[in-house]
Amino acid sequence: MNNRLNKIISLSMIAILLLSINKNVTAANGTDQPPKLVNEASIEKVLKAMTLDEKAHLVIGTGYPGPNGIAGATYAIPRLGIPSITLSDGPAGVRIGGLFAGAAPRYATAFPIPSSLSATWDTEQAAKVAKAMGKESREYGIDILLAPAVNIQRDPLGGRNFEYYSEDPFLASTITTAFITGVQSVGVGTSIKHFAVNNQETNRTTMNAVLSERALREIYLPAFEMAVKQAKPWTVMSAYNAVNGTFATQNKYLLTNILRNEWDFDGFVMSDWWAVKDPFAALAAGNDLIMPGAYNGPLPMPPLIKDVYNQASAPSPSAIKAAVHNGTLSERVLDECVRNLLRIIVKTPTFKGEYKNVDYNHKTSLTKQAAEEGARIDREAAAEGMVLLKNEHHTLPFKGIHTIAVAGQNAVVDLAHNKLGIIIGGGGSSQVNVKPKDVVSLIQGLQNANYTVVSSMDGNKLVEGLRAGDAVYLAQHTDIGLVSIGRASTEGADRPDMDMRPEEVQLIKDLSNAYHAEGKKLVVILNIGAPIEVASWRDYADAILLAWQPGQEGGNAIADVLSGKVNPSGKLPETFPVHYSAVPSYGNFPGDIAANTVLYAEGIYVGYRYYDTKNIQPAYAFGHGLSYTNFMYKNLTLNSAQMDLNQNQPIVVSVDVSNTGNVSGKEVVQLYIRDKQTTIERPDKELKGFEKVVLQPGQTKTVTFTVDKRAISAYDDTLKSWVSKAGLFQVLVGSSSRDIRQQGEFRTIRNDTRAK
Ligand code: BGC
Repeated sequence: MNNRLNKIISLSMIAILLLSINKNVTAANGTDQPPKLVNEASIEKVLKAMTLDEKAHLVIGTGYPGPNGIAGATYAIPRLGIPSITLSDGPAGVRIGGLFAGAAPRYATAFPIPSSLSATWDTEQAAKVAKAMGKESREYGIDILLAPAVNIQRDPLGGRNFEYYSEDPFLASTITTAFITGVQSVGVGTSIKHFAVNNQETNRTTMNAVLSERALREIYLPAFEMAVKQAKPWTVMSAYNAVNGTFATQNKYLLTNILRNEWDFDGFVMSDWWAVKDPFAALAAGNDLIMPGAYNGPLPMPPLIKDVYNQASAPSPSAIKAAVHNGTLSERVLDECVRNLLRIIVKTPTFKGEYKNVDYNHKTSLTKQAAEEGARIDREAAAEGMVLLKNEHHTLPFKGIHTIAVAGQNAVVDLAHNKLGIIIGGGGSSQVNVKPKDVVSLIQGLQNANYTVVSSMDGNKLVEGLRAGDAVYLAQHTDIGLVSIGRASTEGADRPDMDMRPEEVQLIKDLSNAYHAEGKKLVVILNIGAPIEVASWRDYADAILLAWQPGQEGGNAIADVLSGKVNPSGKLPETFPVHYSAVPSYGNFPGDIAANTVLYAEGIYVGYRYYDTKNIQPAYAFGHGLSYTNFMYKNLTLNSAQMDLNQNQPIVVSVDVSNTGNVSGKEVVQLYIRDKQTTIERPDKELKGFEKVVLQPGQTKTVTFTVDKRAISAYDDTLKSWVSKAGLFQVLVGSSSRDIRQQGEFRTIRNDTRAK
């Protein structure tokens, strides 16, 4: 026994000695120690030390779902000091946990949907919400938030319109830029998506969007362009669809020529989830990271994943290696992708060691402080984005109102059947896991504001199909009637229509007649993510409040606006057409399904660019939104009557805006440009500036805008560049695209004598 023990001890000693000699040798000549990734300057050395196998692993995600039910992660190479970084959705709050049966539920704040955020027309508000999302990302050890989603709302039926910002590229660009700045201010990255022309859900992984270069440049790219140039998102997500015949993930023109070469993008491009069709073409085109890697969830796959999953988009590292060996993929291309990835990895909190002391595997809730802050910011932003579409005879804010009848299926709270009494957000990857107890229903919000709510009679809920006589009884026994109309929509499906259901219209009519007979009013709340038809029933409502899908504090935020605690100041980022048949993409949405082609036949005439040029009256115009006070516009001045295009001197426009009512309020002052002497087709007007101002009763402020050369330029398809011409331009300043209050004009000249 002793002998055996001695033998083991001496063998171990020899082994330890050999190991330490070897270690000493390595350390002494310093050559065998692999370099470590320590900062950007170390990237080239690390890249040199990487094996082909490691490179091939790094350009493919580690599989779906990622750790703790997030969307994905990258491959770690500890030998070289390269950590795995974490990527999580999304545009309306951090999406984590609860994605699959068995995954531990984890919770974050559900913020207002992006359309609601852009309806604030308030860059500070957008940045504040985004910063809160960035902080919540940090609470869960997330490096990159998969947001913002900035595609243009081309057609009101687009299933993801609620996740997008606007029909207008300038508004979308401005809010997007603020959002990215907000998230990244706390050291978390963003992924601006879906690059590009991803405007529908029907056949979303196969559809080819066919559009002119001009429409691409003037409508569909500017939000990406401004964000990349000004806010520097860490990453860009390439879209599922094809653009003019080439899949976005494999589109060198978009990913390399435009994004990297023209706009100087210096982050990395990741594909949308299983969007890649040909991994080698994608890497060569400039798609640096193929996401998410293999599918690791339970089978059968959930429908949303089944729809997008394809084998090619989850290539194995050995397939990448083989492609390098057989010459299908150049190692130089692979190196460039790795370089782009490492340049961002060194910026992440994980890389910097900021997440190393927390056990994220067991963290299921936000800290109390973050949860409270999230709820507070959601409530504030949701109220700020609400749009008062109609307000006859000062129906709102409530005056002398104590008892309210709340009607409509959408307001019913029945947790056992998943009815929260409010729609807080949309479905798909931007859905946020919220504890039902943290959701404030419309009824709860009104009760929190001390109103007495009547939502049932004799045990029956006040829903569509209300019993005859109930409307009359309610009108006699409550101070005001309220109807909540809701519409859900989701990633993965376009909306079937924008119609109101006959029973909804009937409910509004019955209540309206009954309340009006008593000399009382009826208010309709629209708890929706995108336009619905309003023309056929709006005359029955005394006031209509577009509350959007306002996030978890929605009920409180709606009560804040109804009660007058908050004076509404939201404006429409998307036109409400009278009929669906009036929309510019009508007949070309969702396109030719059999041929997998959608023709953007309307070109640059999207949203108000179309309605205003063709003189088609919308139900509610782009930029429309009422306040509890009134604003007056005066004294529009231009600092110069001409812009010298060779000098690129912007024109400075100023206008005085006054609050002429008796409550404080906020006005979104909008500046549009009209080309008066154009030789090419141009829209009637284009938004090129806006500012939200706070005004006390009687107060006047001067609002100033600058109009630069780009603001008057159009994209020339043949010259393939932005062109500005000598001519006459009108400056239109107002409260919506159809409510212009002040005008001025200036000439553009090209003073060629100086150039000679
Ligand atoms: C969506 C992306 C999302 C990704 C990860 C995809 O289905 O299109 O917006 O970021 O899933 O969840």
